[in-house]
Amino acid sequence: MRIAVLEAESWERTAFADLEAEGHRITYHKEPLEAANAADFADAEAVCIFIYSTVDAGVLDALPRLRLVATRSTGYDHIDLPACRARGITVCNVPSYGENTVAEHVFGLLLTIGHNLTEAIDRTRRGDFSPQGLEGFDLRGRTLGVIGTGAIGRHVLEIARGFGMERLAHDKYPDAAAAERLDFHYCDLDTLLRQADVISLHVPETPETRGMIDEAAFGRMREGVVLINTARGSLVDVHALLRALATGKVRAAGLDVLPEEPVVREELEVLRTLFQQEYDYRTLLADHVLLRMRNVFITPHSAFNTREALQRILDVTVANLRGFARDQPRSVVAEPRSEG
Ligand code: NAI
Repeated sequence: MRIAVLEAESWERTAFADLEAEGHRITYHKEPLEAANAADFADAEAVCIFIYSTVDAGVLDALPRLRLVATRSTGYDHIDLPACRARGITVCNVPSYGENTVAEHVFGLLLTIGHNLTEAIDRTRRGDFSPQGLEGFDLRGRTLGVIGTGAIGRHVLEIARGFGMERLAHDKYPDAAAAERLDFHYCDLDTLLRQADVISLHVPETPETRGMIDEAAFGRMREGVVLINTARGSLVDVHALLRALATGKVRAAGLDVLPEEPVVREELEVLRTLFQQEYDYRTLLADHVLLRMRNVFITPHSAFNTREALQRILDVTVANLRGFARDQPRSVVAEPRSEG
């Protein structure tokens, strides 16, 4: 199979060595797959991408031989599944690789906020050992509200138990066995928003979840709530978040994801895209304001980024590619339509 691996780091290549030895023809490319470069991969039968690539109808039109999209991520909102399905292209993902990893990052952000770690460390680096203004807050006894109790959300709840936090959760499909095992309580979204001191988001991006943390949701939250988002930026209305931060409704936010994140990553990209209409510039501007705020702690979508998690991603991806080539597809999120 001709496989184009995009967004490839040089160290990742060794993971694909066995596939090359099995006769697959693999090319590696640093850049993400997008409309502007899709034609360069016209002979690919499989593309192996990460989250900064976009697979939409326009990209697929430029890839006439494509049979498989293998994303090295859990989320697949960067792939147009109906468009793939309509063309008989299979899509597979890495269903789980980093549930503990992302959950650990959640507490990295939360402790950074609760103990003012960035400011504290910046001070001592400058030789300033004054503790004034660094007063933080305990996690013990505070109420954590987890929205989405899938693989990651459950790990967050498990870790929170160790911190002695009260734990509330909301999910479209509650998992009673997990609630019993991990000793947390399910409630409706409204109750969670009203009672939590810390809210952590772990639902996927879907039409239903997009913008779920909006003005009305912030309105229901406690004064001085802390918001952690390691799921997808689009779950939160950033304009409403900015207002909530400005009024003190939200005391602090820890964000691993932003709505216009792929653009925010590269200032140059911003300039380039000023000439296109694809991005919401108000949101882009709001993202940039958030980046400068002292009570907002942003990491560059790196919650998954540990050596162990990256190895698990590559292992599953190689198995996905091999499985598909052997007519035994794995981790399929969109299968070709059987009827014509
Ligand atoms: P999962 O699929 O195991 O869990 C998602 C949960 O959300 C499920 O229990 C589902 O029932 C629930 N859910 C879906 N729609 C809902 C709705 N409208 N209302 C309430 N609950 C709803 O997913 P997992 O592995 O826990 O990951 C969650 C998200 O985290 C992923 O979709 C991805 O976007 C993000 N992620 C972020 C990473 C990062 O590096 N920042 C790395 C990996 C995942």
